Amino acid sequence: MEIWLVFVFMFSWHLLINAFSVSVPKEKYKACYGSNVTMECSFPVGEKLDLGALTVYWDKKGKFLVKFVQGEEDLKIQNSNPRLRHLTDQLFKGKSLLHITNVKVEDVGAYRCLIGYGGADYKWITLTVNAPYSKINHRVNVDPVTSEYKITCQSEGYPKAKVIWKNGEQDLSSKATVTYSVGQEKLFNITSTLRVNTTANEVFQCFFQEKDTGKNTSAQIVIQEKTESSNIDLRTYFGTLGAVIFFGLTLMFLCCRKKDVRMIDIEKKCLSRQQQQQFPRQRTPI
Ligand SMILES: *[C@@H]1O[C@H](CO)[C@@H](O)[C@H](O)[C@H]1NC(C)=O
Ligand SMILES: *[C@@H]1O[C@H](CO)[C@@H](O)[C@H](O)[C@H]1NC(C)=O
Ligand SMILES: *[C@@H]1O[C@H](CO)[C@@H](O)[C@H](O)[C@H]1NC(C)=O
Ligand SMILES: *[C@@H]1O[C@H](CO)[C@@H](O)[C@H](O)[C@H]1NC(C)=O
Repeated sequence: MEIWLVFVFMFSWHLLINAFSVSVPKEKYKACYGSNVTMECSFPVGEKLDLGALTVYWDKKGKFLVKFVQGEEDLKIQNSNPRLRHLTDQLFKGKSLLHITNVKVEDVGAYRCLIGYGGADYKWITLTVNAPYSKINHRVNVDPVTSEYKITCQSEGYPKAKVIWKNGEQDLSSKATVTYSVGQEKLFNITSTLRVNTTANEVFQCFFQEKDTGKNTSAQIVIQEKTESSNIDLRTYFGTLGAVIFFGLTLMFLCCRKKDVRMIDIEKKCLSRQQQQQFPRQRTPI
């Protein structure tokens, strides 16, 4: 049956016999990523539950999550989402419980429980998910040309967080660049990079701050005398430079051989080019 048909049917039923009502002890649930959550709708059962007269539907975004009609669970729907379970053993107490295990970002949203038992009624419940930015990866690179430091913090979580940078009391956040992407399982993958001129033993901190609660996780980065990554950078830099010079010289050699020019010109040309090529090498490395 189409979901809107169920809805129309239940709603007209509700208008006819409006003594029946569904209630929710909690309208908003907040679950931690990876945890379990049980959402509850309750209804009046009277003396004893008559399963034959009971109909329970749960839906989200126009999709059925639970169809429980006359004591029978629709197994096709139940099997399509193995993390979801309707806890039918509590129905006799007048409770329809939707249990979600290993909560993921895709579970965020508005859920509706529709219950028919004599009369009919429905209620909405919203679920939000929180995945803390608990593991912060960081690294430091040094630009071999400008000696600028590039400090990067990266983490994954949900919902989107703001990245704050501090050097002691100084707030450097406005100098950082941030990129957001959707990482594993719809979590936000946030990478923030701060470029600064600094010296050894300076302490920097990056904070991943939740927008609504202001809660944050942070990492502390102490600038080393000479970081390993900067050595690697320098090595690749001079490696590349050497290759460029070698390539340039080879090219020149080949060119010069082809063209029949006076020896003095060649010497001048090669010399001047050689000087140009070698110029960056004269800059003192950090
Ligand atoms: C979540 O529920 C599953 C199945 O009901 C159970 O095995 C697991 O231990 C629960 N996890 C937590 C963190 O309670
Ligand atoms: C997160 O983003 C960074 C940089 O954009 C990327 O290097 C990394 O692989 C991403 N991680 C995941 C798990 O997607
Ligand atoms: C670092 O210093 C250089 C030279 O003083 C300057 O041009 C550059 O803008 C500085 N970089 C930052 C990130 O402040
Ligand atoms: C991060 O959280 C701590 C503790 O909750 C708080 O003292 C600090 O001010 C927060 N930092 C920022 C930058 O919001």
